[in-house]
Amino acid sequence: MSYNVRVLAARSCFDVVDQGMSLSEVLPKAQALLDNPLDKALLQEICFGVMRYLPQLEAVCGQLMSKPLIKQLRPLQFLLYVGIYQLKFMRIPDHAAISETVDAARELKGQSLTKLINGVLRNVQRQPELFNFATAPAAVQLNHPGWLITALQQAYPQQWQQILDANQQKAPLWLRVNISKINPTDYAAALTRQGIEYTRPVAGLPAAIKLAQAQDVTSLPGYAEGWFSVQDAAAQYAASLLDVNSSQHILDACCAPGGKTCHILELAPEAELTALDKETKRLLRVHENLARLGLNANVIAADAAEPDSWWQGKLFDRILLDVPCSATGVIRRHPDIRWLRKKADIAVLAELQQRILRQCWSLLAPGGTLLYATCSVLPAENSEQIEQFLQQHSDAKLDRLPQQHANQQYGWQLLPGEQDMDGFFYARLKKMTNNEKA
Ligand SMILES: C[S@@+](CC[C@H](N)C(=O)[O-])C[C@H]1O[C@@H](n2cnc3c(N)ncnc32)[C@H](O)[C@@H]1O
Repeated sequence: MSYNVRVLAARSCFDVVDQGMSLSEVLPKAQALLDNPLDKALLQEICFGVMRYLPQLEAVCGQLMSKPLIKQLRPLQFLLYVGIYQLKFMRIPDHAAISETVDAARELKGQSLTKLINGVLRNVQRQPELFNFATAPAAVQLNHPGWLITALQQAYPQQWQQILDANQQKAPLWLRVNISKINPTDYAAALTRQGIEYTRPVAGLPAAIKLAQAQDVTSLPGYAEGWFSVQDAAAQYAASLLDVNSSQHILDACCAPGGKTCHILELAPEAELTALDKETKRLLRVHENLARLGLNANVIAADAAEPDSWWQGKLFDRILLDVPCSATGVIRRHPDIRWLRKKADIAVLAELQQRILRQCWSLLAPGGTLLYATCSVLPAENSEQIEQFLQQHSDAKLDRLPQQHANQQYGWQLLPGEQDMDGFFYARLKKMTNNEKA
């Protein structure tokens, strides 16, 4: 059976926006129904695009229809967004975008609506002024929910627009060369031999390579041999900021899918590392990554905030807490996040983060280091967490990051798009020894 890309796109967007499922969950399943890699890529491009421009697509429909389609017709409303997105933002010829979308409507049991859909799309084609949003609410002009725009304006009076712009961009593909297997310069040469264009733009990250174009990573040199991993450059700072070596006992308390776990072990292959995550299913990816890269860790499915259920009684020299967060720093990679995340989620996440931090702190050896990390840009999950924690723990002190990695009082906030990296936050805490406390 052959599947229609536009039908799958409309259903996937409906599942995200109306059913609250994530695109990372929905899209791979929809792509698995398609044989042609070009169709898989097209499906992703359309779904990402609809998520990036949802308010404007809704607003355009609002100008052309008396009311949106409801109940069992909702997927057809999303099909309209799919059609309009193609007309406005993609280089698909208009006649093909319109006829393919109308054909898709028939498959979505919208036989009686083909005239309406055709009419809406033809109007969009003829009236570019429908996309003039100069007087529209900020949420429509900026394609983000109002609460997030306000939060960013408050936190970043100078940079909020730059953050919103970065969220609308396509994220690049970054690799991290596995230095325990191959020298980054030799790996770069292997890319050149295959005619793959890249840059190595971040001076402090020698293993980071940015590809000029998205690729099927399994066909890059050395995939099966574990010569590299896919990891945004911002996330590649974690292992070095944690300052690891092979003699240490290390905890990676929120480890799945294992990007940072593997990086730590590439830098400190003999370290005794416990990799923990609450989600058993996500730990499968950790096992796969460790196996492909030839690394070893003690992988445990457990709750980091309940150490009594898993801790073996030996304090850790290093702890990485890459805590669950709003992921507001990685919206360019996951454009659906802005619709899935609600304002009320932030306080719930902040409370969970503080609980994990408090519980894991008790497992850190005196003199040991804990690195707190999020892919959020919201102070409530970042600097405010560290400030609150330091106020409540007299045995904790802020271990200042090197100057180039410390732009805030309580840590380092990378904003999305800076050097083409994701938004990330790092803060390093040190546990005082008895001598230091005295
Ligand atoms: C930001 S992700 C970690 C990414 C990972 N460090 C990496 O680099 O690949 C956060 C992880 O925390 C896990 N998590 C959420 N709550 C947890 C808890 N209470 N205890 C342990 N893990 C938890 C989630 O399942 C998720 O895998």
